[in-house]
Amino acid sequence: MKSELEYLELLKEYGLLVRAPGRINLIGEHTDYNQGLCMPATIDRSIYLGLNNSEKWSIEAIDTHETWEQGQSWEPDWLVYFKGAIQLAKERNLPIMPLKLAFGGNLPAGAGLSSSSSICCGFCFALNEHFNWQMDLGALTKFAVKAERQSGLEGGMMDQISILNGKEGNALLIDCKDWTFTSYPMALPDHRWLVVDTKIKHKLVDTDYNARSQTCRQILLKLQEEGQSIKALGEVDGHKLDMAKNLLNEEQFPLLKYQVEENERVRKFALALVKKDSTQLGNILLEGHRGLKDMYKVSCDELDFLVDFASKDPRAAGARMMGGGFGGSSIHLVEKNTITSYQSDIAAAYHQQFGIHADFFEAEVSDGLKRLK
Ligand code: GLA
Repeated sequence: MKSELEYLELLKEYGLLVRAPGRINLIGEHTDYNQGLCMPATIDRSIYLGLNNSEKWSIEAIDTHETWEQGQSWEPDWLVYFKGAIQLAKERNLPIMPLKLAFGGNLPAGAGLSSSSSICCGFCFALNEHFNWQMDLGALTKFAVKAERQSGLEGGMMDQISILNGKEGNALLIDCKDWTFTSYPMALPDHRWLVVDTKIKHKLVDTDYNARSQTCRQILLKLQEEGQSIKALGEVDGHKLDMAKNLLNEEQFPLLKYQVEENERVRKFALALVKKDSTQLGNILLEGHRGLKDMYKVSCDELDFLVDFASKDPRAAGARMMGGGFGGSSIHLVEKNTITSYQSDIAAAYHQQFGIHADFFEAEVSDGLKRLK
């Protein structure tokens, strides 16, 4: 894995350079597209992106040695994140000219750490700087969300708000109803946040991610038709949930119940974080995972295995799957003095079960997107 310095060296020919971090999410999963609550934090694992003026468009992925040039018929997977932003800029008549771009980074793709949003946000931010679009961070967040939706993922805005506004050492409690956020220091005296990557890669657009957000839209329509005055599922509370029970089918009701409970978990989690109550934080993580696995059905055997290991191991306060699901990473809250032995034991157990070497790193919570040059 290359360091930031190595990427800066590889990208030294570029006049404008940005660092777009990845994110973890402590709690509040699949709630953003329903205008609920979530609590992500930006990490030091990042995408680095450089650009110069050019006669025609060209983009190089420095880690995979793939280059796309304007007019070329073969299109790499990642091109979609650039094309979305270029198209949107043209639709809005924003100044934009061909560029020579290169990007790469130590943020793994398909690992539930928002690598696609990091690329897309990094590109939108760089365009705004280079062409002097004069968008503030709020407008830029909206632009990046819209640009990324062109990739076909009916995602929310958690990743973009987090990437553009992250703050070192803090998680952001985001209210996705109005895109406002509050910082919560997340360091705990005796624990560390450990990310365990199952190495089961997901490309969310090819999973049931969109199916979940579509079912949520059907639930909303049904509740509105039946007279509930709500604009989004994030507004549903325990009382409204009881009223909804007879209106929804057996596929829909668990999804709504999960949404209501997950929003409540985010509120409790923020309070437990202030109290630095690792036992309660761990329990909330485990409850969240059960919801994602049994009600929302976006987990997989590998993630369940890792979380099950954590739930039985006294060195871990708790764990849960993180991000869109169907593979990717889990987050574990582990006692700092035992983290090394915990990591080697869970690695061995995981390898024995699935024949896969999981990846591990301690989350270093860093600032959000920055221009480096
Ligand atoms: C992906 C999406 C986010 C969010 C998460 C699940 O990361 O990009 O908008 O929905 O999944 O919480």
